[in-house]
Amino acid sequence: MYFDTHAHLDDRAFDADRAEMLRQIREAGVKLVIDPGCEPESCRKAAALSEAYDWIYFAAGIHPEELESDTPEALEETAVLAAHPKCVAIGEIGLDYYWDDRHREEQKALFRRQIALALERELPVIVHDREAHGDCLEIIRGYPELRGVFHCFSGSAEMAEELLRRGWYLGFDGPVTYKNARKTPEVLAICPLDRILLETDSPYLSPVPRRGRRNDPGNLRYICERIAELKGTTPQTVAAAALKNGCELFGIRIPARNGEAG
Ligand code: NI
Repeated sequence: MYFDTHAHLDDRAFDADRAEMLRQIREAGVKLVIDPGCEPESCRKAAALSEAYDWIYFAAGIHPEELESDTPEALEETAVLAAHPKCVAIGEIGLDYYWDDRHREEQKALFRRQIALALERELPVIVHDREAHGDCLEIIRGYPELRGVFHCFSGSAEMAEELLRRGWYLGFDGPVTYKNARKTPEVLAICPLDRILLETDSPYLSPVPRRGRRNDPGNLRYICERIAELKGTTPQTVAAAALKNGCELFGIRIPARNGEAG
């Protein structure tokens, strides 16, 4: 049973065959999915999917690459969606200095405003940190009561250690299967099983051997298998731990073995 805590099911890449793809991933053992919104329109779509499928949940947030959506109206809409019964986190939020290195202060301000919303609603956050490790950590340190996941964690083992000490979870995606994933073994060596989340970031970041093709949550097993290999355990153990971790962090009832999500 797999829980993909990060898949953009609302993405345009799935428009032509979304229902069929969702049927197939269920058959592949995916029991729960969280669809993190990136700006108001994708948040609305993710919310609609969560209403149509009881096993899909969503997160509401404005992604750092969507700075043009940083308006009072969009933030108000994010706050309204955060009160939706299937909204389990504020995300995907954070800092991205890879795509946009010119608006660091604007990104930080938007990140902080959305952290404040998460704390107000007592929701965890889903953090996007791309080439902004130092600033992300510095901001997180300012909110010791905040919890969440560093999505597609790409920091050092030292950074992982600090996040784990602060009660955070680490998300692992397709890149753990890439040959050049040098830091992953060190990070996984210090990350206990009870802090690992499995994510695909579909439709992006397809794992080996699906690299270069559209990603979907059915590929979570490749990520799970690689982590099991690095941790010296079975894929079943990793999948079960990640499912439990995701349900704990996001406040979701663990689905019965053959039943539907609650
Ligand atoms: Ni994402």
